[in-house]
Formats: sequence, C-alpha cells, structure tokens
Amino acid sequence: MAHRSRNARADELTEIQRIEVASGAPFREIGMHLVADMPPLPLAALAAGQRAGRLPVAVDAADRPIAFALVDLVDGAAHVQQLSVDPAYARRGIGRGLLDEVTRWAAAEGLPASTLTTFRSVPWNGPYYARCGFRELTAAELTPGLAGLLAAEVALGLDPADRVAMRRPVA
Ligand SMILES: CC(C)(COP(=O)(O)OP(=O)(O)OC[C@H]1O[C@@H](n2cnc3c(N)ncnc32)[C@H](O)[C@@H]1OP(=O)(O)O)[C@@H](O)C(=O)NCCC(=O)NCCS
Repeated sequence: MAHRSRNARADELTEIQRIEVASGAPFREIGMHLVADMPPLPLAALAAGQRAGRLPVAVDAADRPIAFALVDLVDGAAHVQQLSVDPAYARRGIGRGLLDEVTRWAAAEGLPASTLTTFRSVPWNGPYYARCGFRELTAAELTPGLAGLLAAEVALGLDPADRVAMRRPVA
C-alpha cells in the first residue's frame, strides 16, 4: 500500500525522534553499536526543517508519522540529512517513496540533484541507495559541503573508509 506523505507538524517532532532511534536497531544486529546508540537529531534542527517545509513524513491511515526525511541545502543540492523508517513499517517502499518526495521538492526548488552520505557496506544504506538511483561520488567529485559533512562524521567516530557521499540527479 502506498503511504501518503506531507510535511511534519510542529507537534510531531518528538515522535520523529522516536522513529529515528527505533530505526537504529538494525545497526545493533550487525555490531554497529556506536551508530545504533547515536542520539537522534536535536529538536532545534527538526524544528528548523519543519518550519522550512523540509521535513516530509510518511503517515499511516490515522495520519500518524511512520517515517521521515530531513532535507538540508548543501552546495546547491537537496541533501538528505536523515532518512528513517519505523522498523514496524520497513521494506514496504516507504523509504523509496520519501526519497522520491525529496526529489519532487528539489525539482520544485529548481535544484539539480539530491545527495546524502551513508555507509558503503551496510546493506540498507549504500547498496539500497544505489538501487534507488544514487551514485557514489569519487573524492574528486566531492563538493566542499559534502567533504565537510564526511569529515564531521569521522570526528564523531564513524569509519572513514566506509563513509561515502552519493548523488541522484532530479531529471
Ligand atoms: C534505509 C531505510 C530508510 C529503508 O527504508 P524502507 O522503507 O525499509 O526501504 P524500502 O521499502 O524503500 O526498500 C526496502 C529495501 O531496502 C533494503 N533493506 C531495508 N531494510 C533492510 C535490512 N534490514 N537488511 C537488508 N536490506 C534492507 C532492501 O534492499 C529492501 O528491499 P527488499 O525488501 O526487497 O529486500 C530504513 O531501513 C531505515 O530507516 N534504516 C535505518 C536508518 C538508516 O540507515 N538511515 C539511513 C542513514 S544514511
């Protein structure tokens, strides 16, 4: 069943944090405890995205959020800062639907592409995004903003050898 999406409401931000924390559980199963235990995005970041219309949520039949994407502008592209699906609703195309929603938003804003950073080797990260049409950027293709985000992630303890930036054109 296709799930409807809309921008988040201001009173849904703690629920969105809960979804992000819940979506980290599969990382624990593959021994990536640091990632599983990372705190969710701060409420201030979610609030800024919500106000700017950059926090799409997929909702259930009762209009409750079950997944979200937080979009940022990085080097002129729609950057997916976080994509999380409640594990109770995983593998139903909701993540892919939100990525398409981000692309529609990017197109409406006149942006050429969406980007993200992720783990190359985690099955539901790099390989998943590749199936959704994202391509890994080479070091030479990295824009300054994306390079800065990757550096910040390494400073948080993420493995630099496994972090990649990916891009999907709007057209
Ligand atoms: C990545 C994520 C957003 C995908 O959302 P989703 O709605 O489950 O994905 P879709 O239904 O669009 O696609 C499902 C595909 O994703 C991959 N996938 C999802 N969960 C997976 C898992 N636990 N193990 C392996 N592959 C998985 C598979 O390719 C799956 O296809 P399949 O069911 O036909 O095998 C979701 O798994 C999630 O929230 N993960 C945790 C947070 C995260 O990693 N965010 C990205 C940080 S960069």
